[in-house]
Amino acid sequence: MTVAHPGQTAMTPDQLTAQVLAAYSGTPEPRLRELLAALIRHVHAFAVETRLTSAEWLAGLEFLTATGQKCDAERQEFVLLSDVLGLSSLVDLINAADGVTESTVLGPFYVPGAPVRAMGEQIGRPQDGSPALIRGRVTGQAGHPLGGATLDVWQSSGNGLYDTQDPQQPPFNLRGVFVTGPDGRYEFRTARPVSYPVPTDGPVGALLRGSGRHNWRAAHIHAIVSAPGCRPVTTHIFDADNPYLGSDTVFGVKDSLVKEFRPAGPADPPDVSYVADMNFTLANAQPR
Ligand code: BEZ
Ligand code: FE
Repeated sequence: MTVAHPGQTAMTPDQLTAQVLAAYSGTPEPRLRELLAALIRHVHAFAVETRLTSAEWLAGLEFLTATGQKCDAERQEFVLLSDVLGLSSLVDLINAADGVTESTVLGPFYVPGAPVRAMGEQIGRPQDGSPALIRGRVTGQAGHPLGGATLDVWQSSGNGLYDTQDPQQPPFNLRGVFVTGPDGRYEFRTARPVSYPVPTDGPVGALLRGSGRHNWRAAHIHAIVSAPGCRPVTTHIFDADNPYLGSDTVFGVKDSLVKEFRPAGPADPPDVSYVADMNFTLANAQPR
């Protein structure tokens, strides 16, 4: 308890917050100054609103310490924390362009340098799951086809693991870069994606368990779609027939990215069991 000396009044939380804000108000770089001031205001407001106890403050710091200690060259527990708190998706939403394909989380399993593959090529092995054909068009904001656009795609196998998590899979299994034809069209063969759990052997797993949340991602294929003169989009194709669409553990699902994987019919190639159509629209690049 704070004891005010005779004739003095105890400092209030508002006075302390103002003092801290003033101490950082001389930060020379304007954007850093803005970010620091907002961070201080919000963190202080959080402590005041919740009447944060010393024990809770310490537990929070220990949680963040454990999160950092779980990070290494392959594991980024802070990104996972941002993902399960919805912060990654929020940053994505704030920075989205209108009228183009919606973006969603990159996730930790992207590996640059996947092989460039021929139109229609299969990116996986028969044991990765039910064969599916994914196809569509890449267009610009004005609706014109974008020939020579690239789609860098990756996904997990039917066992829920990416090649980087599974020694049984060859490097770059279920990964590939596809280039659109002059009409903006692309197609590739893969396995129909499955739901899979995000890692729970770290502090983020404890957070999910403590919150009574599951750790499953809705079934998806990742894609980074790029074309010269356009803003690339990092996105997913979600399977419409999936129980986790409404509760994806990282809040990555957007309705416009959910596509039906329909059973292949007589007019479809005989080597696939499912077909999904997904078009991509790219925004014009921001002028520098
Ligand atoms: C993923 O889709 O690969 C992913 C995204 C966020 C957290 C974990 C995995
Ligand atoms: Fe994924």
